[in-house]
Amino acid sequence: MKVLILSRNIGLYSTQRLILECRKRGHNVQVVDPLTCNLIVDNHNPMVIDNSGMEIKADWVLPRIGSTATSYGAAIIRQFELKKIPVITSSQALLQARDKLIALQLLTKNNLPVPKTGLISPLECDANLIRREFEFPAIIKLLDSTHGLGVILSDSLQNGIAVSEAFVRMQKKFIIQKFIKESAGQDIRAFVVNGKIVASMLRKAPEGEYRSNMHRGSTGSHIELTTEEQEVILKASQTLGLEVSGVDIMRSEEGPLILEVNASPGLEGIESVTKVNVAGAIISYGDQLARSSLNG
Ligand SMILES: Nc1ncnc2c1ncn2[C@@H]1O[C@H](COP(=O)(O)OP(=O)(O)O)[C@@H](O)[C@H]1O
Ligand SMILES: [Mg+2]
Repeated sequence: MKVLILSRNIGLYSTQRLILECRKRGHNVQVVDPLTCNLIVDNHNPMVIDNSGMEIKADWVLPRIGSTATSYGAAIIRQFELKKIPVITSSQALLQARDKLIALQLLTKNNLPVPKTGLISPLECDANLIRREFEFPAIIKLLDSTHGLGVILSDSLQNGIAVSEAFVRMQKKFIIQKFIKESAGQDIRAFVVNGKIVASMLRKAPEGEYRSNMHRGSTGSHIELTTEEQEVILKASQTLGLEVSGVDIMRSEEGPLILEVNASPGLEGIESVTKVNVAGAIISYGDQLARSSLNG
């Protein structure tokens, strides 16, 4: 089996784990930085070409595309889709999961619970509307925030307006969101592979931090998910069209609320906390996809 991993950084724990699981199965694995790829869009022979001019061939593709390469990465994935090569994360799923607003809209369309969220006109910051619809403290979040970088806890309407105005001026897209204070600094990360929750953990932020990302120094621990939480997580992943995803939810007074569905979730935290071989589950699923595409 020839597996292509699209990743900007071969040294990352996640990339290394995926390479190892491929090698364990005797696969030929190639890691390519998507930004170094070239595409030939052609009716007869669409190609993906690497930086040495060689056409890239694979039995299946595993995108591990970070936020610095979303749109170019999606173009590369789409090209493999055109070539009918199985890809674990579709270009459409990647694009819609990466934009937090699109993701929230799709989730609400399918009756999945999300925190109340506002998108403010880039032409005018309507303070009355924000006052009417949101209590402070509130969360202000860049649509392309990642690792918690771009998530602001705004403590007053005055501060919320000032931050919003600054983002508008910088032409950054952002949302205002209800602050889920009852579980501030804690969330649940569930890792989904092929319609199953393979691992999950509770993440707790260090003292004084409200963002529970592992990159912000959170610690993970074991958690039992309720049936309702499991249903919400699996449906969220399915709604965004992701077969491998990291779903973040918070326990709130209203029940579980989905924060986001990550299209390229990290493996280090979840594997070290749960001791589950998540990388192995991903590679086995890719193999299964490739086999059914060969047979079908
Ligand atoms: N509405 C909210 N209420 C309380 N905490 C939040 C809220 N939104 C985000 N957070 C905290 O900030 C962290 C990062 O937010 P998230 O939306 O997942 O963005 P990112 O993509 O940067 O991880 C979450 O894991 C959570 O701990
Ligand atoms: Mg997150």
